[in-house]
Amino acid sequence: MAIAMDKQQQVEAVMAAAPVIPVVIVDEPAKAVALARALVAGGIPAIEVTLRTPRALECLAAIAAEVEGAIPGAGTVLTSAQVAAVETAGAKFMVSPGAAPKLLEAAAASPLPLLPGAATATEMMALMERGYRHLKFFPASVAGGAAYLKALASPLPQVKFCPTGGISAENAGDYLALPNVACVGGSWLAAEAAVAAGDWDAITKLAQEAAALRR
Ligand code: 3PG
Repeated sequence: MAIAMDKQQQVEAVMAAAPVIPVVIVDEPAKAVALARALVAGGIPAIEVTLRTPRALECLAAIAAEVEGAIPGAGTVLTSAQVAAVETAGAKFMVSPGAAPKLLEAAAASPLPLLPGAATATEMMALMERGYRHLKFFPASVAGGAAYLKALASPLPQVKFCPTGGISAENAGDYLALPNVACVGGSWLAAEAAVAAGDWDAITKLAQEAAALRR
């Protein structure tokens, strides 16, 4: 009998799916579906749909229902009510910029894995006490960048990070080269102008370049 993966294994699998998790801000389900299809076609399956627009949940649900091969996730999850809502919408994982106590309680009770944000050794250690081994390092570039994260690899080797915030095609490699980085997150794959213009070929090309990054 197969043993069910625990939530840390589930989030590890999401982070292993591709070198980049695109951070997406969309407000139109049809556009979200087209965008997700373009990303998946380029080799980027895990997609973080941020809860920053009025119809973000609908966009997430549309991707979950209609995009074969996508691993839809919910980003900017801040409250316990949102944990319940994204579960219903069909998210497979959740991402938060931080790790507030009530959110962590809701996440512990949810079947969905959470990738919580942390920026200091103390925040990371508090999450390790709760069993987290996979964290978002946020906001990566201004919190200290790749050099900061590299300095944490020796004292906290158990933790694997998805640095996010200020990451681009140009500097992603600096992070992906680190032993404690599993993948990076960023909005550059869902380039605003390409999404607005419906230029899905351009998105697929960006996704292909991101999928080919070495880690
Ligand atoms: C965000 O919170 O918007 C994400 O961290 C993405 O950051 P980026 O736009 O700098 O990639």
